[in-house]
Amino acid sequence: MSTSQSHESKNQSWGGRFTESTDAFVEQFTASITFDQRLYKHDIAGSRAHARMLGKVGLLNSTDVEAILNGLNQIEAEIEAGSFDWKVSLEDIHMNVEARLTDRIGLAGKRLHTGRSRNDQVATDIRLWLRDQIDHIGYAIRRLQTGLIQVAEQEADTILPGFTHLQVAQPITFGHHMLAWFEMLQRDYERLMDCRKRVNIMPLGAAALAGTTYPIDRDYTAELLGFERPTRNSLDAVSDRDFAIEFTSFASLLLMHLSRFSEELILWTSAQFDFIRLPDRFCTGSSIMPQKKNPDVPELVRGKSGRVFGHLMALLTLMKGQPLAYNKDNQEDKEPLFDTVDTVLGCLRAFGDMMPHVQTKPEKMRKAAMQGFSTATDLADYLVRKGLPFRDAHEVVGKAVGLGVQTGRDLSEMSLAELQSFSDVITDDVFTVLTLEGSVAARNHLGGTAPEQVRKQVAIAKALIAE
Ligand code: ARG
Repeated sequence: MSTSQSHESKNQSWGGRFTESTDAFVEQFTASITFDQRLYKHDIAGSRAHARMLGKVGLLNSTDVEAILNGLNQIEAEIEAGSFDWKVSLEDIHMNVEARLTDRIGLAGKRLHTGRSRNDQVATDIRLWLRDQIDHIGYAIRRLQTGLIQVAEQEADTILPGFTHLQVAQPITFGHHMLAWFEMLQRDYERLMDCRKRVNIMPLGAAALAGTTYPIDRDYTAELLGFERPTRNSLDAVSDRDFAIEFTSFASLLLMHLSRFSEELILWTSAQFDFIRLPDRFCTGSSIMPQKKNPDVPELVRGKSGRVFGHLMALLTLMKGQPLAYNKDNQEDKEPLFDTVDTVLGCLRAFGDMMPHVQTKPEKMRKAAMQGFSTATDLADYLVRKGLPFRDAHEVVGKAVGLGVQTGRDLSEMSLAELQSFSDVITDDVFTVLTLEGSVAARNHLGGTAPEQVRKQVAIAKALIAE
């Protein structure tokens, strides 16, 4: 006799064929109630719609439907008041709610499960839950984009060095840099909304795997729950979690972007760059070094990308070996998905709060832009306009830069005679192209860094997010 069978009775939802009760550890090990109770609202919403559908097609009488709907309302209120008694012995959210319903209303509660299974129920719950989360996340992305547009507009004329290989490359405008982030977020937003279309399909009615013998009306249930349509294949409906993987892929790309933004903010707040200031409320100090002000928010966001990438890998691995249809493996979909949503919402909130309050240090950025010969390409382009082939112009400017390195001066700090010693086509109009302002203003075409283009793109961005 096993000593671990400390609990009294067989499971009331499926214990009929069993001759002994579940091992106590197995009961705990297989239960999901500690985490899937988070789905309660959507589980109850699904049950409400299912009950109304059963009423519509005549499988439940109106008294039973009423009793079920009232009972579900009361259960929802109990859960929200914190007085619901969650039972591990009832395994998951579905059986906890159903058992409590039967406690409260008797026989009608036992009729609710007609024509459905926990397999289509759980797939429906997750999709309903995720659809709501997608809407919250969409809003949070829009909020962050709004902040970026605001900074871009304020800083359309602010110049900083642009980098390639983290070496000073060409001067750019801060507004243009903010709008690069805006574009990445715009693609993330579009991916999210595209993913939403595939999330918003209803598995309910697939029952365990093959459908059901009752004359159910799936279109009606789908309409009640706001789904686009019911799924077309019952095996697919209960078994695939590709929509969760797709969402987590979206989240991984978003976090990859936020992690890159974070990396730049971290660099920019360092003493070596010193391009921006983050308000104190988004930073923390060191317990030993009194001078420290650490950019914890971006550092943490950069770190959190790792956990989301991990969840993507977990979900892909969870799914890859499963034969059709439902397998208990799928119970493992929830924690990675929940944590992905929490992480995404947290990171977006932190960035959304912080970005509008980033303060730039224009003199520092200007000084840095003056240091790395950032207008060298402008000089080459100038020589091309005067008739030199680009490769020769490149060579000429390379020599001028060599002199600058030797003598510690920028190209704009050389005399006309010095510059002319490298090429006799140079005249005194060269100095207008060597200034930082001249350099950014000259890149005045769609997608370029000129302040005029930044202002145009700000207007376009505003219209895009207002859609
Ligand atoms: N807790 C389960 C899950 O999350 C619900 C579905 C259980 N179905 C079953 N046949 N055991 O996947």
